[in-house]
Amino acid sequence: MQTKEKTVDWHLYAEKYDMLFSYNPFYQELYKEITKLTLEWDLKPGATIADIGAGTGNYSVTLAKQFPQASILHVDNNVEMNERARQKKEDSGLENLKIIPKGIQEVRLPSESLDGLISVHALYTFPHPAKALKKMAAWLAPGGFGILVDPGRIVNVLDWQWAIGKKLIAQYGIRKTLEIFREAKPVSRQNRYIRQMQRQEKLWTHSTEEFCEAIKNAGFKILDFKTCFRGLSDLAVVSR
Ligand SMILES: C[S@@+](CC[C@H](N)C(=O)[O-])C[C@H]1O[C@@H](n2cnc3c(N)ncnc32)[C@H](O)[C@@H]1O
Repeated sequence: MQTKEKTVDWHLYAEKYDMLFSYNPFYQELYKEITKLTLEWDLKPGATIADIGAGTGNYSVTLAKQFPQASILHVDNNVEMNERARQKKEDSGLENLKIIPKGIQEVRLPSESLDGLISVHALYTFPHPAKALKKMAAWLAPGGFGILVDPGRIVNVLDWQWAIGKKLIAQYGIRKTLEIFREAKPVSRQNRYIRQMQRQEKLWTHSTEEFCEAIKNAGFKILDFKTCFRGLSDLAVVSR
């Protein structure tokens, strides 16, 4: 795992990112799975949870609602993504959600200060995933809860469009599906860049074994793991 140049244009992606949440059945399935797992966390009042690479806040906002007595740290360095998260925070009146507009590489938190930690589909794009994992492991308190999800395999955009299209046609019919696809063009474009960058080894790709190895090397304990998101991603339930 080497230092990677960060080149995905999250500014463009942010514009349509939440279409994934509204229309991508596989994103919805993953969201349900992760938020079901976080709901099982037995946290004391006053706990602190961080979402690293939190995007438009789909998970950080949910965590803030699931754990009203906890402080949720939303860490992301993209202005547009954070603006969308800020809007959701405001709409839901969430006072326990704090947006930290910084890259993981710039964030400093005390060791063992987190009781919970998630990072979903973000590690692969960090400048140095191994260093980021080490930092996260040092932040998690012994016995703390963690969920790490990362797309390790190279994205096949056409295969994804086909799989999503079939589900959308069944749900909405052809006309609405075509409309959705037209509107989601910036997302497909970014996914094509991601594929290109993965092939050029500018983004971290990994097998499930390599993912687990990196997590263990960082200092986490793996409690459970599986592949998800149509086999593209790895999901690890971790602790310290
Ligand atoms: C694919 S999005 C995932 C967002 C969210 N976790 C989700 O699943 O909906 C990846 C996010 O990682 C963020 N990101 C990229 N590099 C980062 C870095 N160095 N530090 C923190 N966040 C970063 C991007 O801005 C983007 O919002």
